Amino acid sequence: MSKLIISGGKPLKGEIQLMGAKNVASKLMVASLLTEEECILENFPKIGDTDITAELCGALGSELTYGENLLKIKTARIKNHKVQSLSRRNRIPILAIGPLLSRGGEAEVPILGGDKIGPRPVDLHVMVLMALGAEVEVGNGVYRARAPNGLRGAKISFPYPSVGATESALYASVLAIGRTVLQNAAIEPEIIDLIKFLQKMGAIIELGAGRTLFIDGVAKLRGASHHIMNDRNEAASFGSLALATHGDIFMRGAEQEHLITFLNAVRRVGGEYEVHPDGIRILCEHEPKAIEIETDTHPGFMTDWQQPFVVALTQAYGTSVIHETIYEDRFGYTNDLNLMGARITVFSKCLGDRPCRFTGKGFMHSAVILGPTPLTGKKLVTRDLRSGMVNIIAGLTAEGETEISGVDEIDRGYYKIDERLKNIGALIEREKVYNAK
Ligand code: EPU
Repeated sequence: MSKLIISGGKPLKGEIQLMGAKNVASKLMVASLLTEEECILENFPKIGDTDITAELCGALGSELTYGENLLKIKTARIKNHKVQSLSRRNRIPILAIGPLLSRGGEAEVPILGGDKIGPRPVDLHVMVLMALGAEVEVGNGVYRARAPNGLRGAKISFPYPSVGATESALYASVLAIGRTVLQNAAIEPEIIDLIKFLQKMGAIIELGAGRTLFIDGVAKLRGASHHIMNDRNEAASFGSLALATHGDIFMRGAEQEHLITFLNAVRRVGGEYEVHPDGIRILCEHEPKAIEIETDTHPGFMTDWQQPFVVALTQAYGTSVIHETIYEDRFGYTNDLNLMGARITVFSKCLGDRPCRFTGKGFMHSAVILGPTPLTGKKLVTRDLRSGMVNIIAGLTAEGETEISGVDEIDRGYYKIDERLKNIGALIEREKVYNAK
């Protein structure tokens, strides 16, 4: 275990290199299970989340070889279609059911972990697997699935465009017999990167209009190489850091096409940005001003961006409003910000243009932020990955010292975060914490 000690209150300036996207890397590792040939993943982030996925793939029979920002992964044979537990948990194991069913007709994987940001059910994953011909049971801490008659294409209409369930459907349909049609599917850039990789492996996937995907099953997939897209959530985190500290940060590798909505929010709040061929610079020379934001599926303002962005809004003049429409319970971190001096109140009403899935259910999914409020350093415990990043940004914005424990949670998604932030002037130190036994 380790903790971070931060001395804040000064603008951060300089250049920071984005890493490969966490929410693509693990998905491509799972996709590699669909072939017996070797796959090569470039721009690969070796972080906590991909380590957990590596443990899963290793238990199923994959051989993994790491290079510099590179992973070679080959699963010549599925040695074991049952993985009952892993040393740590993330959201990935259920995604492995599709490849395991395609290659051996049976799968058993542990139930999911991941951030505590709402109930996070998996009903839509189960729905797609069953529609494609699988029998699925949940019990004793595992999901068990069988496809005694193989997987067959089907027409599936998602009641909600879930990222994970769309991925489950892609994995289970690329080797299924016949055509699968996915209506109201997720089309996040991370999904498109997965589709590009599957296409290189030999899959036939068409992007139709209006969130429709058409998949024509093929008999076999082959190995492929892919350069993982850069992490747009890292970009939004560092961009928010620039706004909150009145800094000037060049994010090498940031891509405008993945950040259009975020950049609009930067400009509306009074920040500025420059788009260069090799990255994006975000700076904040004036006092930021309050704005309203509603999170949404792509191409809307991503839920993963709202947490870091709210730190910037604590420094903005006026009353900002956030309506979170993706996760029921993603405002727990505002307690930490309030402890540091912010004035944020959360509400169960939909404070946005339109009612969302959570209307009338009592979930505290809207927030009102009064600013600007000076922040002061405090002792904080990391709640989950993105709120851990909130604590770091708030600590770097605040006067005085902030101590953040539970940093392993942050390491799940951000590679060597302290070392990278030091390069843009952050006063941040990592200390090992030893359990007294
Ligand atoms: N949902 C259901 N049933 C399902 C699946 C999802 O009701 O079977 C609900 C969820 O409870 C949630 C909403 O649908 O309220 C969105 O879930 P989705 O399936 O779209 O998200 P996910 O696949 O679980 C991925 C990312 C998240 C990111 C979301 C939205 C990974 C590992 N995680 O989650 O990233 O917020 O898509 O873009 O890819 C993060 O990186 O911090 C993170 C939470």
